[in-house]
Amino acid sequence: MRVLGIETSCDETGIAIYQSSKGLLANRLYSQAAMHSEFGGVVPELASRDHVRKILPLIKMVLSDSGLELSHLNGIAYTSGPGLVGALMVGGALASSLAYALGIPVLGVHHMEGHLLAPMLEKTRPEFPFVALLVSGGHTQLVNVKSLGDYNLLGESLDDAAGEAFDKTAKMLDLDYPGGPIVAKFAANGNINRFNFPRPMTDRSGLDFSFSGLKTFSRNLIERHRENNGFIDRQTRADICAGFQEAVVDTLVIKCLRALEHTSLQRLVIAGGVAANRRLREKLEDALKSKQARVFYARQEFCTDNGAMIAYAGCQRMLAGERDDLAVKAYPRWSLDTLTPPLGRN
Ligand code: KG4
Ligand code: ZN
Repeated sequence: MRVLGIETSCDETGIAIYQSSKGLLANRLYSQAAMHSEFGGVVPELASRDHVRKILPLIKMVLSDSGLELSHLNGIAYTSGPGLVGALMVGGALASSLAYALGIPVLGVHHMEGHLLAPMLEKTRPEFPFVALLVSGGHTQLVNVKSLGDYNLLGESLDDAAGEAFDKTAKMLDLDYPGGPIVAKFAANGNINRFNFPRPMTDRSGLDFSFSGLKTFSRNLIERHRENNGFIDRQTRADICAGFQEAVVDTLVIKCLRALEHTSLQRLVIAGGVAANRRLREKLEDALKSKQARVFYARQEFCTDNGAMIAYAGCQRMLAGERDDLAVKAYPRWSLDTLTPPLGRN
């Protein structure tokens, strides 16, 4: 089965073709980050308009990359939530129209299920069951993944998502959007010990997170170290980035170990934009070594938003017989643990 995947939930137009017997055939991404960085964050209306402009040319590209014609597709999967509703509707409208014209099935896919399954696109892939740490710009969740669609939420952030905390800290330091990769870059030249950031909510039991305190801690440090001309020297910026990143990473690692212990599982998947963070990968690998547990993740480009993860997730569900009607689905809020295994919906 060959499935076209369409991702338009935020500021990336991601298009890919996945074939069940061969794997990923083509993958293209257009990032709007440069356009939004001028505004310090995503402007929803601009995002929708840009998806409209980019989506069809990208579909033509993945068909040409894979040497396929539209008539070779057997299904279309699109992100139907959670995300920006206007942006989601662009992908959904195009997916449903194309499926109608071609007489093939269409399916709305949960964006976070896409992230969660992205490591399945790699050679070294986890078997079910596993614990998943989903860390993106909008979500920080620990999930007990028993099988495709059988997800039990173990804990989540009570306020800011981990990625959001990176983005806000970057903004306070006058760094570009999205902040995560830039904070990580500055952190590489910083001293993790100069500032003593807290590790929020690690001293009490449970698997929930809170990152808004770290943001406030960063803000206070920044104000304290601003010189008279408003400038913060380069080394101080790097040290704040290093201290902040270390605190987020340590907090995530502590909760992941706790979740593995709680579920008696030995496989951990990290997914979503923050899973691209090198320090997080390193520290998790180190921490799991002594526990005989293993961490799995996708290559960097499949941690952040992309069409390949949507094509893959949609293909798995369509193979099990799942389909949607042609009415466009766009859910701005949609909890992952309301999903069911594919046959549960038929
Ligand atoms: O999954 P994603 O592309 O979009 C959402 O679904 O939100 O995640 C984007 C988030 C942003 O907050 C971005 O700053 C963060 O992931 N991010 C990172 C890194 N790369 C992206 N955070 C920390 N370190 C990184 N290397
Ligand atoms: Zn995402």
